[in-house]
Amino acid sequence: MAILLDGKATAAALRQEIAEEVKGSGMTPGLAVILVGDDPASRIYVNNKKKACAAVGFYSEEITLPADVSQETLIDTVKALNKREDIDGILCQLPLPSHLSDRAVIAAIDPKKDVDAFHAVNAGNLLRGTPSILPCTPAGIMELLFRYHIDIDGKRCVVVGRSNIVGKPMALLLLQKNGTVTVCHSHTRDLAAITRTADILVAAVGVPHFITADMVKAGAVVIDVGMNRDENGKLCGDVDFAAVEPQVSAITPVPGGVGPMTIAMLLKNTLTAYKNR
Ligand code: GUN
Repeated sequence: MAILLDGKATAAALRQEIAEEVKGSGMTPGLAVILVGDDPASRIYVNNKKKACAAVGFYSEEITLPADVSQETLIDTVKALNKREDIDGILCQLPLPSHLSDRAVIAAIDPKKDVDAFHAVNAGNLLRGTPSILPCTPAGIMELLFRYHIDIDGKRCVVVGRSNIVGKPMALLLLQKNGTVTVCHSHTRDLAAITRTADILVAAVGVPHFITADMVKAGAVVIDVGMNRDENGKLCGDVDFAAVEPQVSAITPVPGGVGPMTIAMLLKNTLTAYKNR
């Protein structure tokens, strides 16, 4: 039977460590979260981020803008937050309505306050191996692997998905820890033959049950980044958990795996941004 990589418990331990560091220290890290429009999933994510801040003694502020806000107003909002002394971290919840440019908004965030680590400066520092802030989801996965003593050095790592938010930075972090990394995507030929070589398999595709049992090597470590709804509206990952779990050595559940780690790493980044300023 596989070890369940419990992101919920690990994130709670991390939050506890952060809360203890902040409590009585005189530090009040501040996070500003910008939400454009009223996408229900984004609403939930933003609420969770604010709740997590309150639980560890951070200040947080939500800036809600209408779905038809102009690019100029959004960027002016970011620039005003860049100047604020009480705000250490800024994030703009994605996706944005289609008339707005993610790239322009991210570029407007002061890289020192870019707690998502999406700015080109932070992405570049990661590429060069000199990061100060790491993207939350890949960093959360690395923390989970570390806390479960899963060694990466020399291992075959396969990342399915090449997004700027997860797939690409995930591959870089595994590489930095001396993994032999392959990145697969929608144009990859004979995907299953590649995923079957993985000692560590990371699925970040966004398709329910995409990774089936025949795609996974016996004894592999499987990390499921997916956050999907199945045909019954139930939350599920990218991995067919019921079929894959019996044949692997460790696996993250959905929910309760990668998701909670992402928010814990956002708190860690906000604390780091506070200290760096
Ligand atoms: N939307 C989905 N994931 C993320 C994330 O990590 N950060 C932000 N800002 N938006 C997201």
